[in-house]
Amino acid sequence: MGYSRRNLLIAGGLTVLGLPACAVGADGAADDGAGKVEVFSWWAAPGEKEGLEALVADFRQRNPGIEFDNAAVAGGAGTIAKTVLATRLENDDPPDSYQTHAGLELDSDIEAGYVEDVRYLYDQQRWRDRLPKGLVEALTFDGRIYSVPVNIHRANLLWFNPAVLKTHGLTPPASWSQFLTQAAALREKGVLPLSIGPAWTQKHLLECVLLGELGADGYTGLWDGATDWKGAPVQEALALFVKVLDQSDVATAAGDWQPALDKVVAGTAAYNVMGDWADAYLRTRKLVFQEGYSVVASPGSAKVYDFLSDSFTLPRGAPHRRAAEQWLIECGSVSGQDAFNPQKGSVPARLDADKSKYTGYLALAIAEWTDSSTRVVGSLTHGVVAGTKRSAAIDTALALFVQDRDTVKFADGVTR
Ligand code: GAL
Repeated sequence: MGYSRRNLLIAGGLTVLGLPACAVGADGAADDGAGKVEVFSWWAAPGEKEGLEALVADFRQRNPGIEFDNAAVAGGAGTIAKTVLATRLENDDPPDSYQTHAGLELDSDIEAGYVEDVRYLYDQQRWRDRLPKGLVEALTFDGRIYSVPVNIHRANLLWFNPAVLKTHGLTPPASWSQFLTQAAALREKGVLPLSIGPAWTQKHLLECVLLGELGADGYTGLWDGATDWKGAPVQEALALFVKVLDQSDVATAAGDWQPALDKVVAGTAAYNVMGDWADAYLRTRKLVFQEGYSVVASPGSAKVYDFLSDSFTLPRGAPHRRAAEQWLIECGSVSGQDAFNPQKGSVPARLDADKSKYTGYLALAIAEWTDSSTRVVGSLTHGVVAGTKRSAAIDTALALFVQDRDTVKFADGVTR
């Protein structure tokens, strides 16, 4: 349990003294809640840190008395950060706030008692009326809400370099089988069809292949039990995923998502499947949308928004609780979201943000996100549709699947 014996003792001691328990940090130091806020995220590398910096700049302006302590740990999708964070939470050493995703990803932290219910902030800031209903649902566990969303990212995107496609006389594929046809032609010309990175990017690709092949309903059914992993459609989609992977550089995969995208920029690879944080990264490389890079929905998923939402928590025992509340208010504010998202390659979670701030790729993204005919599904890789345990089981099964290509065994591993 996150409510450690030590914290209980401290809280108990203070109750006896008649002081509010929240006036004590996890380290036992008295704290009036202001002064400093330690925020833990994985936004440390190009394409990630610019958004955080913009959010922090807005936060500083509105909270001049609070020092921002940036505890970011680099590594795409938080793979390294999540391990570091887990150790800190286990050791009763929480930051004042940490990055997570809307959706089931937070289930184990809630169960362990690591995070506080922040519905009082939702009431105070009237966030429920200012966020999409579906997002609020994804944030709600047994009627309680444990984090504050700062954005909406889209996962199902296929990035390319328009000049490279032009050279090869190609237009982006509308289905994964079309991609495979193009891949054969690209190979003959010495171009790698698809660049890929570490394990989480392979999971991200799997999610996009499943979505493209099964459609929004079939994909959603994978997570609510309506779609059979061992049925023919999923088995065929898994077999196709293996073929797609064979057209990538998985054997010599890039160390993270940015170098995988670099191959597309350089023209040594034709395509890369990645979320729209890629837009932020490509802009840091001084590329212009529709000139140096472009994007379409990943094959078979046009008009579907495979969404995820970065959100921040209030850990139990946060040493600077009042400053942490100010940070969460910042994350949920229009000014914070409109500072952050144009730099982050995401669209605002809030419905009342200033759309004029979103240009280039983001103008298209916001139009599609707010179009009532767009179908919304939740990301597997980025926390929406699978809890921690299930997601970890998929990671284990996928690491084997990439080696042995056994679709039935994979389905077994995933449903066990
Ligand atoms: C996701 C996160 C994004 C972006 C991406 C790559 O999990 O939601 O904001 O940081 O990882 O690191």
